[in-house]
Amino acid sequence: MSEHILVSQQDTIQRIQLNRPEKKNAITTVMYSAMADAIEQAGSDASIRAIYITGSEDSFTSGNDLNDFLQNPPQGAESPVFRFLRAISTAEKPIVAAVNGLAIGIGTTLLLHCDLAYAAEDAKFQLPFVNLALVPEAASSYLIPQIMGQRKAAELLLLGDAFSAAKAAEVGIINEATSADNLENLAWSKAQALAQKAPEALRLSKMLLKKGNAEVIAQTMAEEGKLFGERLQSPEAMEVMQAFMERREPDFSKFS
Ligand code: COA
Repeated sequence: MSEHILVSQQDTIQRIQLNRPEKKNAITTVMYSAMADAIEQAGSDASIRAIYITGSEDSFTSGNDLNDFLQNPPQGAESPVFRFLRAISTAEKPIVAAVNGLAIGIGTTLLLHCDLAYAAEDAKFQLPFVNLALVPEAASSYLIPQIMGQRKAAELLLLGDAFSAAKAAEVGIINEATSADNLENLAWSKAQALAQKAPEALRLSKMLLKKGNAEVIAQTMAEEGKLFGERLQSPEAMEVMQAFMERREPDFSKFS
């Protein structure tokens, strides 16, 4: 358990809440481990029928904790981030996300592995990997073009600009944007609806929906992970991290 990841069970729904608002819910290795544990535990607990993921205050999550990532770069398939990605992408039980605010990096890409995703109208999404001199993760380099086509995928993944909840709904990253006041009601009611379905029928249906992609998702995650790890050590990424600490824009003019 981690104080920054709150896990509880309400009726038959497991609630996972990112709870590090002072750092915009940036995710550390400890938090990835706690979320992987929670999702795995939900998988083996027959009393849990659905998983619900949300953030706190103004953030869903601002993505990987950049300081922690530098200090504890992911190494190998058993590193916490990869354990989390494996758990969320292969979970048999339905997962519903309620995006209450900032959803940056993995804050957006983890939604690709949730069955349903809802967001507050003022939530902000971003896939800033190239801006950070990194590459996409969480199989987003495959899933983003798959859900919206190459044209829009290139805009979101290569330019890396922030986009609105309305746009996230339009391109298929979330199901629906709603008012901040209504978000919890809406997303929780969908989790409840899933939790009341025949569990085996739901499990099998989810498996059928995802089966065509399962292998390519695992392969893409491995390939992205290797490049991402190499990129983290790159001079380009060092420049970005330094700029982040010094609160200035990175300067890539010296790189070829
Ligand atoms: N990793 C580590 N720390 C982070 C973080 C991250 N991804 N996102 C936010 N924080 C920290 C800030 O360093 C700051 O810490 P401090 O109070 O000790 O200085 C605190 O969270 C609040 O963030 P701040 O930048 O002051 O808030 P803001 O509202 O001005 O901006 C963001 C919020 C999310 C736009 C900005 O923090 C940001 O761009 N973060 C990086 C996002 C990112 O690139 N994620 C990685 C994706 S792979």
